[in-house]
Amino acid sequence: MSPDEARKRIADLRAQIEYHDELYYRQAKPEITDFDYDFRKQELADLEATWPKFVAADSPTQRVGDDRAPGFREVAHRQKMLSLDNTYNETELRAFHTRLAKILETDDLRYTVEPKIDGLAVSLTYEGGNLVRAVTRGQGDRGDDITANVLTIHSLPRTLPGAAPSLVEIRGEIYLTAAQFERINAERAAAGEELYANPRNVAAGTIKLLDAAEVARRKLDIVLYGFGFCAPEVVQSQTELQQQLRAWGLPVVEKYWTVRGLDAAWSAIGELDRLRRAFAYGTDGAVVKLDAFAEQRQAGETAKSPRWAIAYKYKPDTARTRLKSITIQVGKTGILSPVAELEPVFLSLSTISRATLHNEDEIRRKDIRVGDLVEIERAGEVIPAVLRSFPAERLAGAKEFDLFAAVGGQCPVCGGKIARVEVDTISGVGAAWKCQNYDCRAQRAGRLGFFCSRRALAIDGVGDIVAARLVELDLVRDPPDLYDVPLATLATLNLGTETEPRVFGEKNATKIVAARAAARALPLEKWLYALSIPEVGESTARELGRRHRNLAEVADAKLLRAVLRKAALLEERELAAPASRKNPAKSDEEKARRKELCARLDAEIAGLEAGDLAGVPSEIGPAVAASTLEFFASTPGQRLLAKLRALGIDPQGTVQIAGVLTGKTLVLTGTLPTLKREEAEQQILAAGGKVIGSVSKKTSYVLAGADAGSKLEKAQALGVAIIDEAKFLQLLQGN
Ligand code: IVH
Repeated sequence: MSPDEARKRIADLRAQIEYHDELYYRQAKPEITDFDYDFRKQELADLEATWPKFVAADSPTQRVGDDRAPGFREVAHRQKMLSLDNTYNETELRAFHTRLAKILETDDLRYTVEPKIDGLAVSLTYEGGNLVRAVTRGQGDRGDDITANVLTIHSLPRTLPGAAPSLVEIRGEIYLTAAQFERINAERAAAGEELYANPRNVAAGTIKLLDAAEVARRKLDIVLYGFGFCAPEVVQSQTELQQQLRAWGLPVVEKYWTVRGLDAAWSAIGELDRLRRAFAYGTDGAVVKLDAFAEQRQAGETAKSPRWAIAYKYKPDTARTRLKSITIQVGKTGILSPVAELEPVFLSLSTISRATLHNEDEIRRKDIRVGDLVEIERAGEVIPAVLRSFPAERLAGAKEFDLFAAVGGQCPVCGGKIARVEVDTISGVGAAWKCQNYDCRAQRAGRLGFFCSRRALAIDGVGDIVAARLVELDLVRDPPDLYDVPLATLATLNLGTETEPRVFGEKNATKIVAARAAARALPLEKWLYALSIPEVGESTARELGRRHRNLAEVADAKLLRAVLRKAALLEERELAAPASRKNPAKSDEEKARRKELCARLDAEIAGLEAGDLAGVPSEIGPAVAASTLEFFASTPGQRLLAKLRALGIDPQGTVQIAGVLTGKTLVLTGTLPTLKREEAEQQILAAGGKVIGSVSKKTSYVLAGADAGSKLEKAQALGVAIIDEAKFLQLLQGN
């Protein structure tokens, strides 16, 4: 791998991990399995180890995830809440032991082995034996105050009996039992709401509700396994800690082991794997900890995780069953995806009769045929997937799957034309069949569901089922038509069948009407995202929303045209270069002529970069520009714009006026003589600049005050410009 390739791959992996962190920690709606996530993170860590010059302080490998949400008070932890290193293999586990043996100069080490609970981390503070606060892990050093929500947990004692320490932070995990999970999803199904993927997501979503009464109805649970700060110290080892927690009457793990040496730890891990499915909480691994606190202190920790503990993660559960048939689903972009219809089989707490097959290439690669015995997996409890087939046990005559033939060469929903397109898949770029009809019922329903989803306009109540019904009844063609559906029509919507009707109801309908009214005021970036413009994801929408005043301006954006123009110029430039490999110059005269042409092209490119394209981020590239302009120029795009105009919906962008700091990034450190930190930040933003948390080579300035620490040192090492307050104020004046 070349340095350039490594840099690109690292940037790509960081972006992917940040995206999935957001889904997992903040939205509680993961799209990939923990296994896939850990795999990517490991690849990033490996690359950073090989290419230390590309390590950045803000890389996901260098920090813990961030679960903070708006609406909660932030509280500092007395002792940082770290995360755990994890591994899926025995060799790495043994390496963990070898490292510790070296540090502690003995290989006779005592460990505890405990279940790794799949919930969300919490820190409880008991003062004088009374529960006073519960805080999420947040970014590790400070988290959200969720005391009101945690107080709804019945199994949690409010006081510690006997002589409790005057101040102790007790750490543990909040979770939801499988039974409560099933109950909540059944209720959601009845209300036509989107179902939760797994108990952990419900627990994470619940703890971030601002309505404690609703939290109480969800019936959360808790289990505790550690201390943060504790004064005075009451125990000297993890084993004693477990016993102390029990003595205080706190909910603790069903079972843990105290063992000597790694072989014993390894067999405890195996034993735990055989027992864990009967536990009240979900588990995804074992945590191995050095038992003695004195030894833990000696081993120490990195910025992110302790050196004295490691999580060994179990392989996801799998089961075998028969593939009855393959059906085809059409998504919001029109892509035809194969779905496995299975002989029902029990796996990780529930019965599974459907699983994803990803795409046609995957089916070929894994040689999966209708009628086959297949292995399915439910990793991290997201959508189950078909892992592999057993060709040796195949019935005679089983044919290779051909998606085009299976749908008779047309969209299975609308009967429209289908075409071959390139798509991104988990295993890279692949090809797929796509329905070409923008007005296909499946696409319309998909777009409506997406329009109303949490991350788009958050019109709660319109889940996939309601969206499909509204489209089926022709009440909605384009998503904004939702505004025309009267309350009475929504209230009487039948989500069941004719013989077994299930009416949506007045209460649910009223919720939709309120939510759609509130969505009118959402900013341009949300609307751009909600409209399902090809190539426009969340971060692209954000960047576009920041640079335009309204939809009309985006539809005919000078900026997007400039992006396309630059791409065309670059292409021309490549062919014009006198030494072009594709198109070498044939004579000296031609060489001279082409040199001149290149100079002209370069000048125009430089002009664009200094003008319309100044400060434009990588999110807005030629593919985005072409797709966005094309979308708004198309018949459906024009139809949408006209509809929004008619509805009086005119979302506003958050345009920042270009200022003296446009395109510049600044890092603040230390105490400034007159300006407060927030004031300095505000002035930077107002001048078009960006404030970031850590110094890199790309940082424009480090604004340093008294007692500046490591950031100043790093700036010096990297040769980044360092300015004081006086210089900063001059800069704002334009000097
Ligand atoms: S001890 C210094 N023990 O897993 C970190 N953590 O992936 C000590 N977790 O952040 C954590 N079960 O939220 C510990 N028995 C257990 C655990 C456990 C689940 C969570 C915890 C941690 C995360 C790391």
